[in-house]
Amino acid sequence: MKILIKGGRVVDPANNLDKVCDVLIENGKISKVALNIKTDAKEIIDASSKIVVPGLVDMHVHLREPGREDKETVKSGTLAALAGGVTSLLAMPNTQPPIDSKEHLDVLGDIINKTARANVFIAASITKGRLGEELVDIASLKKQGIVAITDDGDSVDSDILMSSAFSKAGESNVLVICHCEDKLLSMNGAVNLGFTSTRMGLRGISKESEYKRIERDITLAKDAGACLHIAHVSCKESIELIADAKKKGIAITAETAPHYFALDEAAVIDYDTNMKMNPPLRTTQDRESIKQALKDGIIDVIASDHAPHTENEKDIEFERAEFGVTGLETELSASITELVNTNLLNWPELVKKMSFNPAQILGIDKGTLTPGRAADIIVVSGDRERIVKKEEFVSKSKNSPFLNRKLKGVVEYTICGGKIAYKYKKE
Ligand code: DOR
Ligand code: ZN
Repeated sequence: MKILIKGGRVVDPANNLDKVCDVLIENGKISKVALNIKTDAKEIIDASSKIVVPGLVDMHVHLREPGREDKETVKSGTLAALAGGVTSLLAMPNTQPPIDSKEHLDVLGDIINKTARANVFIAASITKGRLGEELVDIASLKKQGIVAITDDGDSVDSDILMSSAFSKAGESNVLVICHCEDKLLSMNGAVNLGFTSTRMGLRGISKESEYKRIERDITLAKDAGACLHIAHVSCKESIELIADAKKKGIAITAETAPHYFALDEAAVIDYDTNMKMNPPLRTTQDRESIKQALKDGIIDVIASDHAPHTENEKDIEFERAEFGVTGLETELSASITELVNTNLLNWPELVKKMSFNPAQILGIDKGTLTPGRAADIIVVSGDRERIVKKEEFVSKSKNSPFLNRKLKGVVEYTICGGKIAYKYKKE
């Protein structure tokens, strides 16, 4: 089976490529990237005035299976991924049960083999049951194929335990992804601490709760010689600490999610629970700092932190509603709208943040259009607009902070493993 993607602007930062040309796919692999490819391919995608880039690699996705199949499943989540241009993702381990043992990893691996529609990589938890008390067997889980560990949703409070986690992860060459939050400082908060929390009459989540924990994790990771990745950075102070660590040559990378640069705490003032996530939306100044950090390369990755929840868990009083928003199907358009359209990032820079860098950080063979690699490719209309509609989501959950917003950028085709796995329906 051959597919020719013809005449698109092909952007592949791994190969320093940004030019109008063709891409030929043969037997599931990229076979050629060149001008005017002659082929007998039956399937031809006209990509003129469109952008052709490696499929996105989203390193922060909650697929919820096993345990909360009412929110999302491996199948529904990977179909949502394809609709958003994501061909590879890292599944977070805060499932029920958490992915903390060979047995639980086997169960998830089996579900993925049977039902996943995109490439799914697995993160195991750092501690058994995500209880922050006892480490998982990092070395043996690594042998079984995990690419990272994280207690995402929580941070490991014990310095001693976390230090030992970094040492063991360092020895096994496993990435440690940290959800940085000191719950003694953030406990019972619902929104950013400050004007918004006071005005809304809600308890606030301080920035200290985030950056103090980042500071600790940087120190522990450095001493242990481990690779540290900071999840969902939301504020200026965190960025300053990460920039400083990078300057010192510490092995640290960082990620943010589109809601932290597209929105700020003003969006939450009407008690819209689709604006409730952890960490919370911060100030306008924090939002600007996040954008600048993306530009400056202090933040390496844009990931969705896709966190699906049911209507029963969201359509209730603000304080009782779950933390988290969906993101797989909007992350690319939100990033194009906020970053490329405003000339903050160019296309190669965006592709680095959403595909090449996360693949490098996870050490997976993705994020490029190099001939010989699996054909995971998306064709994007950069200028086409869409209004985000609840009915159009593929995900089982609809808790998006971008509902009813107009966004620029449409994923026209998603090709995964050499097959057309998604095509935008509206003509
Ligand atoms: O808002 C969030 N939702 N933040 C997290 O860290 C976890 C996530 C979830 O699992 O719902
Ligand atoms: Zn988290």
